[in-house]
Amino acid sequence: MKKHSALFITAIALFILFGGCNTEQNQEIGTSEYQQKVDSLIKIMTLDEKIGQLNLLASGWDVTGPVMDPNYKQLIKQGNAGAVFNAYGVDYVTELQRLAVEETRLGIPLLFGYDVIHGYKTIFPIPLAQSCSWDLEMIEHSDRIAATEATAEGINWVFAPMVDISRDPRWGRVSEGAGEDTWLGSKIAAARVNGFQGNNLADEQTLLATMKHFAAYGAPQAGRDYHTVDISERSLLEYYLPPFKACVDAGVASVMTSFNEISGVPSSSNHWLYTELLRNTWGFKGFVVTDYTSIYELIPHGVAQDSAHAGELALKAGIQLDMQSSIFIKNLKNLVKSGKISEKLIDKAVSDILLAKYKLGLFDDPYRYCNKTREGNEIMTQASKDFARQFVTKSCVLLKNENQTLPIPETVKKIALIGPLGNAAEDMLGNWSAAGWAQYCVTLFDGLKAEAVDKNIQIHYEKGCEIVGLSTSGFDAAIKAAKNADFVILALGEDRNMSGEAASRTNLNLPGVQMQLAEKIIEIGKPTAVVLFNGRPLTIPELDQKAPAILEAWFGGIQSGSGIADLLFGKALPSGKLTMTFPHNVGQIPIHYNMKNNGRPVDPTNPEYRFRSKYLDSPNQPLYPFGYGLSYTNFSYSNLKISSPEIRATDTLTIQVTVSNTGKSDGEEIVQLYIRDLVGSVTRPINELKGFSKVFLKQGETRDVIFKITANDLKFFNLDMEYTYEPGKFDLMVGPNSASGLKDSFSLR
Ligand code: BGC
Repeated sequence: MKKHSALFITAIALFILFGGCNTEQNQEIGTSEYQQKVDSLIKIMTLDEKIGQLNLLASGWDVTGPVMDPNYKQLIKQGNAGAVFNAYGVDYVTELQRLAVEETRLGIPLLFGYDVIHGYKTIFPIPLAQSCSWDLEMIEHSDRIAATEATAEGINWVFAPMVDISRDPRWGRVSEGAGEDTWLGSKIAAARVNGFQGNNLADEQTLLATMKHFAAYGAPQAGRDYHTVDISERSLLEYYLPPFKACVDAGVASVMTSFNEISGVPSSSNHWLYTELLRNTWGFKGFVVTDYTSIYELIPHGVAQDSAHAGELALKAGIQLDMQSSIFIKNLKNLVKSGKISEKLIDKAVSDILLAKYKLGLFDDPYRYCNKTREGNEIMTQASKDFARQFVTKSCVLLKNENQTLPIPETVKKIALIGPLGNAAEDMLGNWSAAGWAQYCVTLFDGLKAEAVDKNIQIHYEKGCEIVGLSTSGFDAAIKAAKNADFVILALGEDRNMSGEAASRTNLNLPGVQMQLAEKIIEIGKPTAVVLFNGRPLTIPELDQKAPAILEAWFGGIQSGSGIADLLFGKALPSGKLTMTFPHNVGQIPIHYNMKNNGRPVDPTNPEYRFRSKYLDSPNQPLYPFGYGLSYTNFSYSNLKISSPEIRATDTLTIQVTVSNTGKSDGEEIVQLYIRDLVGSVTRPINELKGFSKVFLKQGETRDVIFKITANDLKFFNLDMEYTYEPGKFDLMVGPNSASGLKDSFSLR
């Protein structure tokens, strides 16, 4: 009886309030019309029902923290959930949605969130690898595919993109972001929001994106995850916040808090960040979700004395949806009753969440993402797999290729594949593998074998050693295999859980005895190429010294092995460039290309002079700089021209350079433009990326590449913290990476 009356009220409420409009009409209805519906709905909601909308529950799958309430189904039925995460698949999502729609008084549908970080079922290269493609269209397209697949399995909200800038490879979550550069990171951030959300949230193949983790989570002290962040306001504004602003400008639907504090204020209680900056200054219109139990974590942070206090601080700061801590559900009612918080704040949060549900079309059809036909047809299509394979080829970075060791010469008939990552299917998924399964992964061994069949090449695989661990018992067999081969591939690196969340490392060398194995194999003297699998920059100066060739393959997802084999055999051409600096050693960290000059830079004419900013035991320069990456051919840069030595604020400066393919194969080059503001009211970095262009050049081909710069590209936060440009002299450099290129200069009047 109770159930029937709930159903009846649900039906009436849906009819009166939500108007039963179809999707096409939906697309035409503006946000203001939705807002009216939201306002009407809020008017008939009880305080309990409102607070219920502010609770986000984990379904119990794939958790990354404490599960506070395992009784989630009961909570949904009681109206104590506005959204669920970690539940996917049409049947399961339908079952949970039914509890909300049919068993609660108002039948308000749930959002279904999930960490779709680099693909849903078709797993693509990890985000750090994707960024090394510098290919905004491919990045956007991969998220388009991810959204299509995820929505076919009931998901309507993803916890991505992660747009945290990081300059510290000890921090394991660098694998989830776009690297160290703010300018490139902002472009990628916007592309990813567009990929997930498309032009229209009412389209059943698009979903809500979440920019995360707001803010500065990528700058934890000592690279230790969840640790304190203490950075200047200037650095925050200039380096860490712009990718978030780019997401807001691209219309991102939601934002996730970060676990860290900034200047003593944890994000989930930061009113300045969430209300003044995000809403009032940037004009963000979506809703704010916590990262996991970060409201509860205000207590150990030491700014809240108990749960009620934590809830009060969070809601007042502008936090709206409580993931997993149950603090809102348990405390908000009393906080309203005691007058500590105003119900208006709760209404605002409910309104933002309901509006997102309207925009998705959930009030028209709560099951619109539960479509068995789509689930059967739109997941892991051949087109998606082909795209994933191509994306792998674009994401790898060739770090070294002495004597053109790669591509593997056609004369090679016996290949020894050696190393613990050679046939490691699960590791290929990388961290955060959503609904992806290891059984779909093509390992390097699989990929090589598939290519070898037609070429009549034998592939012999020996593991040699484990990824971690000190046993060398596999060395003999590996050495024998290498001696018996005419080409050796060493597959080395980290396992997939050595990067990602809670995966900070203080030692970034190859783990275990892998370097020893590499030395033994390389000294045999066969042509040897190392393929690296890892989720962060590693410190590999010895490997760089000894290995003839090194291909950085990161974790490439389900098509890892096929894409890498395409590169190794020369069917595809390496073109990726690093988006994070590779240091020589951990002591150099934080190290990034856009550092400041300081008052005592090393004098190149007298580099040994002691009282300069340098180390006694290490170079200042990295092993591989930002923007670095080789191809199978060579490119030469010449003829740098600028349209004028001086521009006014209203002018456009045109920069032209000639790039020629002077090597022995076709190739694609990522031509990069860097600028240095020589004198400012505050100090400026020695280099800043301001443009890039990907050019494919056939062997022997030459092309002019053009960049355009205006005063807007020269803006920064000046002495008075105004975002503006200042007249003066600027150096510019166009080249293959952040450490080399042709130089010129111009003035801004
Ligand atoms: C992570 C988030 C993630 C959330 C939900 C947290 O531990 O920091 O990035 O979205 O878990 O899985």
